[in-house]
Amino acid sequence: SGYVTLDSGYKNTGATKSAITFLDGEEGILRYRGYPIEQLAEQSTFMEVAYLLIYGKLPSAQELNDFNSQIMRHTLVHEDVRKIFDGFPSGAHPMGVLSSLVSALTAFYPESLDPNQSQDEVNLNIKRLIAKISTLAAWSYKNSVGHPVNYPKNKLDYVSNFLHMMFAFPTEDYEVNPVVTSALNKLLILHADHEQNCSTSTVRMVGSANASLYSSVSAGICALWGPLHGGANQEVIEMLEEIQKDGGNTQKWVDKAKDPNDSFRLMGFGHRVYKNFDPRATIIKKAADEVLTALGLEDSPLLKIAKELEQAALTDEYFIKRKLYPNVDFYSGIIYKAIGIPTEMFTVMFAMGRLPGWIAQWKEMRENKEPIGRPRQIYVGEKERNYVPLTERA
Ligand code: CMC
Repeated sequence: SGYVTLDSGYKNTGATKSAITFLDGEEGILRYRGYPIEQLAEQSTFMEVAYLLIYGKLPSAQELNDFNSQIMRHTLVHEDVRKIFDGFPSGAHPMGVLSSLVSALTAFYPESLDPNQSQDEVNLNIKRLIAKISTLAAWSYKNSVGHPVNYPKNKLDYVSNFLHMMFAFPTEDYEVNPVVTSALNKLLILHADHEQNCSTSTVRMVGSANASLYSSVSAGICALWGPLHGGANQEVIEMLEEIQKDGGNTQKWVDKAKDPNDSFRLMGFGHRVYKNFDPRATIIKKAADEVLTALGLEDSPLLKIAKELEQAALTDEYFIKRKLYPNVDFYSGIIYKAIGIPTEMFTVMFAMGRLPGWIAQWKEMRENKEPIGRPRQIYVGEKERNYVPLTERA
């Protein structure tokens, strides 16, 4: 296959044409359907951005209202799904539980397996998935700590309902704090799409075989879980906590990340595409300051360590030369932690945020009738050789 070019990690290969997200890594520009991420993060809600990504335009007030209420109508999951939960050991990582249960939804909605389903059926499955992922995510947390689950309250908006399912107890209500809902909306918006990253490419690849939306997204959740991708947000907080336990010497950890004989990397630093700054990180850093101040946590030792670590790395020759800057996940964990989201749930939050992007990309691929994804390779194995019977082998 002399015509195959090798591009390990697809650093230069465009796998598709897409009209969803524009990203300029040199200039640090990110736009969803043409709208700058800064404007969306400041002014819109997660549901509005979900609609924008999936349907290509900002909704009218009526469209948004309909979209919201149709989604909230589907937040309940089948009671049999709870039986599946019971099969997981408590303490199971919520990402493994989430991907399994999203895949299990194919069993409850088998019509989703039909590649020829009508546009109305596709839209119904899209709304079901957006609705149910919030319930499954909250329940996977409840399961991980051995608590009884909370049923959705459909009168609430999407983000407030999620917080209710996470934090209400059967004996007491959860009072939604507007600082928290606004921070969560912002985080979910900033994570909502990022063109052909690892998990999105996975969703498109799986979907290109005409696999169902649920199966494709379940595969995307597994890809996102990896510590080099979405799993980094959990790793950042764990790293900051370790630095704190270690006495807060950030320079020591920067040196460790530079050591060629040490596989440790500064989590939350570096990006495949952004080579000057990650615009999402700029917004999140500001949001972290605002949220922590609003919650009276501005003296958080982790925030202090994060800022020192960032400063130490940004002024270090090793990081400067390699164009390594804080990415979206460097400060996101600090906000999640401040608003009470447990560390093991951070990547689940990323998955909830990225879901509209995965859906939009799956839908675009389907509507464009893209061919099945099937990369080639450069074979470097043995030349032809003859089979040796077992008794004659050395
Ligand atoms: N700490 C220390 N060194 C690093 C780091 C880091 N965080 N990131 C990259 N490098 C070095 C790497 O060792 C290599 O050095 P050398 O040229 O001497 O071999 C050079 O920088 C280039 O790195 P690479 O691994 O070839 O770059 P990549 O584009 O393949 O990887 C990355 C991008 C994000 C996987 C990587 O920067 C990384 O591992 N970062 C830490 C994990 C992380 O924060 N991931 C979240 C990404 S943003 C959220 C998302 O969209 O998933």
